[in-house]
Amino acid sequence: MTIRIETPSAPRFGTLLRSALATAALLVSLQAFAAGGAGALPQSGANVHDIASLQRGAQLYVNYCLGCHSAEFMRYSRLATDLGLSEEMVMRNLAFGDGKIGDPMSIAMDSDDAARWFGKAPPDLSVIGRSRGADWLNAYMLSFYRDESGVWNNTVLENAAMPHVLWRLQGIQEPVYETHTDGGMEVRTVAHLELSEPGLMSPEEYEDAMRDLTAFLIYLGEPAQLQRKHVGVWVMLFLAFFALLAYLLKAEYWRDVH
Ligand code: HEC
Repeated sequence: MTIRIETPSAPRFGTLLRSALATAALLVSLQAFAAGGAGALPQSGANVHDIASLQRGAQLYVNYCLGCHSAEFMRYSRLATDLGLSEEMVMRNLAFGDGKIGDPMSIAMDSDDAARWFGKAPPDLSVIGRSRGADWLNAYMLSFYRDESGVWNNTVLENAAMPHVLWRLQGIQEPVYETHTDGGMEVRTVAHLELSEPGLMSPEEYEDAMRDLTAFLIYLGEPAQLQRKHVGVWVMLFLAFFALLAYLLKAEYWRDVH
């Protein structure tokens, strides 16, 4: 008597590979879409895994942003652990006078007052890194300019209620306009910005500083990413190793069947 074994009509490896590639391509294009259209903003180059860069970014944040923007989800103690700083260093350099190491990064300003002063209350920036993303934040910080009436504006967030708090570092940028017609109407837009008064930093130094600040904002949005991505590498290695084991096991079982 002969035993016939039906081989299950499992999907071919080629088919699987093709659908995996298609899914990957879809994910990549979705990400580009979520980021506001492919290539709309230059890449920031910010690196959250560069601890020295995060430290410099934190210093900038405390000196220039924390006056208006709280980061309520972040405690100084966590900052110390993640950025490899002693508690004493954090309290001396990053916290305000009477703060405690377990405090969140709050501000003293009342948000009603702030809304009255700026026309809009400065938002808490704990998770801005998630909603805006690195490229947007970086571009925003590079795109403040002074318009003809002497008012600060920003090409990335038009009519932003935030003044250019870093103008001393960057200097003053002025717009070069271009006009084009849109539906019969003449529209004037900013073609690009030109540095009309140099700041304390050269343009390259300022760009580096903004990369640090962006990296810090991205870290703030998800502090656990420092560990998560690290763990992720080991998980991927494990999965690859496990796939190999599973394949060897399958080969072993099917050897007798064939
Ligand atoms: C003098 C107060 C003040 C300071 C200091 C300040 N900002 Fe702002 N910021 C504002 C206000 C007001 C807004 C709201 C702007 C709007 O929506 O028009 C804002 C908005 C923002 C936004 C959100 C834009 C959006 O809509 O998503 C970001 C990001 C931001 N600020 C980053 C910073 C960073 C980084 C610093 C430090 C370098 C800083 N800000 C310092 C007042 C300030």
